[in-house]
Amino acid sequence: MNMVEIITRKKLGEALTAEEIDFFVKGAADHSIPDYQLAALLMAIRLNGMSAQETTHLTLAMRDSGDVADLSAIPGVKVDKHSTGGVGDTATLVLAPLVAACGVPVAKMSGRGLGHTGGTLDKLESIPGFRIGLSEEEFVRQVNEIGVAVIGQTGSLAPADKTLYALRDVTSTVDSLPLIASSIMSKKLASGADAIVLDVKTGSGAIMHTLEGSVELAKAMVDIGTLAKKPVTAVVTGMAQPLGTHVGNALEVKDAIDVLSGRTKGDLLEVSLLLGSYMLMHAGAAETPEEGRRKLTKALESGAGLEKLRLMIRAQGGDERVCDDWKRMPQAAVVREVACGKTGWVASMDTTALGLAAQAMGAGRIRKTDPLDYSVGFILPVRIGDHVWAHTPLCTLFARSEEEADAAEQAIREAITFSETPVERPPLWYAIVTKDGVQKAE
Ligand code: URA
Repeated sequence: MNMVEIITRKKLGEALTAEEIDFFVKGAADHSIPDYQLAALLMAIRLNGMSAQETTHLTLAMRDSGDVADLSAIPGVKVDKHSTGGVGDTATLVLAPLVAACGVPVAKMSGRGLGHTGGTLDKLESIPGFRIGLSEEEFVRQVNEIGVAVIGQTGSLAPADKTLYALRDVTSTVDSLPLIASSIMSKKLASGADAIVLDVKTGSGAIMHTLEGSVELAKAMVDIGTLAKKPVTAVVTGMAQPLGTHVGNALEVKDAIDVLSGRTKGDLLEVSLLLGSYMLMHAGAAETPEEGRRKLTKALESGAGLEKLRLMIRAQGGDERVCDDWKRMPQAAVVREVACGKTGWVASMDTTALGLAAQAMGAGRIRKTDPLDYSVGFILPVRIGDHVWAHTPLCTLFARSEEEADAAEQAIREAITFSETPVERPPLWYAIVTKDGVQKAE
């Protein structure tokens, strides 16, 4: 088979055959096809798209490009959850312990931050001593013993996606529906879960900015799951502003602990309960989302969820005392309070710009090899629709230096607009997509 012919056919908008897809996926996994040819093909796919059939075949070929985890040694239905990526989105650290506290095993493989979005693994590694690299045997043992483990994906899981994702990141081809759907679903199908709950973000901080694009992406991923015989529920949730009030690795761990301790309510808790309730339904532990929510709320109020987080941190070598004393987490050199400086209503946030501000402070990577500073980021207590005065706190910055705090302050001010008239709060979720159709929020 000839790679130039494959690129040409996609350049002309033709559908690729299963053999052609297998050929370039294998070449991406074993690096036998040079990056420049893969990059050209990715751009042709970005510009001309793929049919549902091509997208499904690409997903399955990427799934089969490496190992497929076997979680059959863990009794019960294993439900995975995946977010398409957001800012201040630490729902995994809230819902994994809560779902486990309801008796449903959570064997979760998570990822690192990408671009302006944060990653669960980076957040967990901000806890002193925490190990994300368990062997499959340790992973299974831990889930069987305490009900929950969150680890990094093994190097051999969907290696073709690893190559293609790294190329997409640097060739402006991330925002392609078939490429996103196949990238996410190939990893989820390879991670061995029995059912999957997807959190598809929409809004200024999401990979898909428009609601139509996000619903299309949700539908494509549900369809792939259905064809692969894995039940999938996709919830389209808002990313018009950061999900939690904390942005940055150690800060987001604090946010999750505050939610699990019952000290913090708000959107992070609400979205975690929503996604968690669908996880319980897939596992057969709840009949309806309302029943799921009641069970999760009980686990929250009894402290059972926080206890699970504590057990998970201890089991993975981390300092569980962070659950009671946040000062044991990395602390920033500079802490600065910033006021709104305006009177009115918070009107909009450029959430991607907010994520990039945290990344520039050192919370995310600009190059793949950049070390992270776990201590940095910001707390942003204001929400769209809030009324503020000039003296109302806008944010607290946690920075490495006064200069970096200055740059972050300017970026955050530029990312947030105010209105002189009241502004409606954006919805928490917009649609729930299953194989049976799309349920829109009222
Ligand atoms: N997350 C992924 O894993 N892949 C994408 O393409 C986008 C988000």
